[in-house]
Amino acid sequence: MSALLEAKGVSVTFKAYGDEVKAVQNVDFLLPKGKVVGIVGESGSGKSTLARVLSGLQIPTAGEVIYMGRNIQEGKQTYKGDLRKAVQMVFQDPYSSLNPRMRILNAVAEGVLQHQTKDKEKAREIALQLLKRMGISEIDASKYPFSLSGGQRQRASVARALTAQPKILIADEPTSAIDQSAQSQLLELFGELINDGLSIVLVSHDLGVIRYLTDYVYVMENGIFVESGETKQIFDKPAMPYTQKLISSIPGHKKAK
Ligand SMILES: Nc1ncnc2c1ncn2[C@@H]1O[C@H](COP(=O)(O)OP(=O)(O)OP(=O)(O)O)[C@@H](O)[C@H]1O
Ligand SMILES: [Mg+2]
Repeated sequence: MSALLEAKGVSVTFKAYGDEVKAVQNVDFLLPKGKVVGIVGESGSGKSTLARVLSGLQIPTAGEVIYMGRNIQEGKQTYKGDLRKAVQMVFQDPYSSLNPRMRILNAVAEGVLQHQTKDKEKAREIALQLLKRMGISEIDASKYPFSLSGGQRQRASVARALTAQPKILIADEPTSAIDQSAQSQLLELFGELINDGLSIVLVSHDLGVIRYLTDYVYVMENGIFVESGETKQIFDKPAMPYTQKLISSIPGHKKAK
């Protein structure tokens, strides 16, 4: 299967207070078209850093990211020109993708204006439809981010990302900090987006979510992929003790049938 997005030999080293943190070390990653690929691992294992590299927000110390056969990096810039809209990221903290001083509807309409139409009235209409599809009512859409629930905020930031009509969505812990029912709403939504042909990179330390949504999984420990494979295979027969430990920590975990 052809790769839509690919990382080759990606490393990220941070320098902090004279120390070096090797957040990501020589990682190869592949997202085939129309698939959902998960990245799992303990806190601090490098998942968000890799997600930022894939979305072009973080320039790797070494290695490269290739989108549809093209290196995303030109000089110090990434996803230039027509590639700019193709890959959108939903952040671990939805506050980072939503302007706190902007009503949700305006924030999403702004995205539509930027990417789809110059007609303000039409942009508002499209934004409202998009938010409705995410399960956010017109009343909630008129609120500021701080007066939404965590789950609504996360769904609003997915709506904001979708205004660019991306080919790839990179979602970093989209279900963290929300309760079970908000989680299932968001998961349902991802299911619909996948059916629509969106390819997704899903970063999560919640293996229940990963198991439910992904086709393929990379398991990350201390910046390294220790294991990867088809989701079913990873959950049925994890090869590495680290993966076994992660899987056995799923609440209510039962061995696969
Ligand atoms: N800007 C930065 N400067 C210095 N160190 C950083 C920076 N960003 C991340 N790190 C370090 O890199 C490592 C990986 O962090 P990262 O945020 O990628 O982990 P994560 O797997 O997403 O964790 P979590 O599950 O808690 O979100 C950590 O040791 C972190 O402290
Ligand atoms: Mg993270």
